Amino acid sequence: MRRMTPTRIETDRLVIRSPSASDARAMEAIFTDPQAVRFLGVNGKPFELESPEQVERRVQRRVALEQQRGFTRWSVDLKESGETIGDCGLVPVRGDTPDAPEEIEVGYHFVRSHWGHGYATEAAAACLREAFTTHGLGRVIAVCEQGHTASERVMIKAGMKRIGTAPYFGEVLTLCEAIRDEWLRDQGA
Ligand SMILES: CC(C)(COP(=O)(O)OP(=O)(O)OC[C@H]1O[C@@H](n2cnc3c(N)ncnc32)[C@H](O)[C@@H]1OP(=O)(O)O)[C@@H](O)C(=O)NCCC(=O)NCCS
Repeated sequence: MRRMTPTRIETDRLVIRSPSASDARAMEAIFTDPQAVRFLGVNGKPFELESPEQVERRVQRRVALEQQRGFTRWSVDLKESGETIGDCGLVPVRGDTPDAPEEIEVGYHFVRSHWGHGYATEAAAACLREAFTTHGLGRVIAVCEQGHTASERVMIKAGMKRIGTAPYFGEVLTLCEAIRDEWLRDQGA
């Protein structure tokens, strides 16, 4: 286990920070909302709405991942009110081919009442910067179900490039990537 410094990333409107057990309540609003989980199914099956205990375990896994790797799916608060409105962050994934290497994916989920304000884009761009600067990653991917236009828009608006489709989580998904030097150059920093 590595020594962990808690994460705190500030953007114009958001604070992206290390998750803690007390975030489970806020995350329940996402993972028990049929609209929010509509595109989260795997292996061709719809996502099953989670019980409070399952959401608690989801948050515990995030805490453990950050202790192991230094990054995770962080919690996202509104700066102005302190309200926790979603998650965004970095998680290891492997594609479905037998020799698929580990890759790092940026992903995000927000409470429905806060969709459409650009928060996911703001958070995803901040997490990409964190990946490339603090964590020294060279490439970050993002995947979403084909036809999940809102998620794909977030990827593109955060500066990622769509490179096609590929098999992940038992489905053929839209695949985007950001390469460190290109992304930092495009962002003008
Ligand atoms: C996907 C999600 C994170 C987007 O969050 P958000 O804060 O609303 O995203 P933003 O406001 O930054 O951008 C959303 C973009 O998608 C567009 N959009 C939203 N709903 C759309 C729809 N049904 N069809 C087409 N475009 C849509 C918006 O217009 C916006 O693009 P624009 O700025 O070009 O107009 C949010 O809908 C969510 O949490 N969904 C549930 C979890 C999820 O599916 N996560 C992604 C898994 S791959």
